[in-house]
Amino acid sequence: MSSATSAPSTSANGPEPVVLLLSGPNLNLLGVREPEVYGRATLADHVATATAAAEAAGFRLEHVQANAEGALVDAVHAARGRVAAIVVNPGALTHYGWSLHDALAAFDGVIVELHLSNPNRREPWRHTSVVAPVAHGSILGFGGHGYRLAVEAAILAVRERGEVRA
Ligand code: DQA
Repeated sequence: MSSATSAPSTSANGPEPVVLLLSGPNLNLLGVREPEVYGRATLADHVATATAAAEAAGFRLEHVQANAEGALVDAVHAARGRVAAIVVNPGALTHYGWSLHDALAAFDGVIVELHLSNPNRREPWRHTSVVAPVAHGSILGFGGHGYRLAVEAAILAVRERGEVRA
């Protein structure tokens, strides 16, 4: 098996070596929104971290942020059959976004759920994730480091599955 830092194995078929990072509602306010919970880094800072992690492994990173659930559902649909992995911080949709859940359930690639905070240490209503059941795994509570960890975890899982498109 190849390591996370070598180029992905490729073929004419299969998804492209692309990680789609999805950011849900209110994450556009990172840096100014509840900095005691989410830190002072902006979403652009986190996207830069995720991009560097993907490129170090020979993958490309695409990013979509939306405050509307339907736009995130559309982004997941557009990723089907094309993108190798989705890393998703769904924001509050984590806890009630069933149409996002259903869209992700219909995505055939790797899915990693990501949160800056650890929702399980917070209010009871944050303890339920409707995304976790359709994710391969979740990265919670590591702040901005989570963006690198989630991209690396997604790429490791993609490599374990086999080939991505040249
Ligand atoms: C969050 C946790 C959610 O509960 C919250 O609604 C967010 C951010 C996080 O990254 O810690 O918007 O997803």
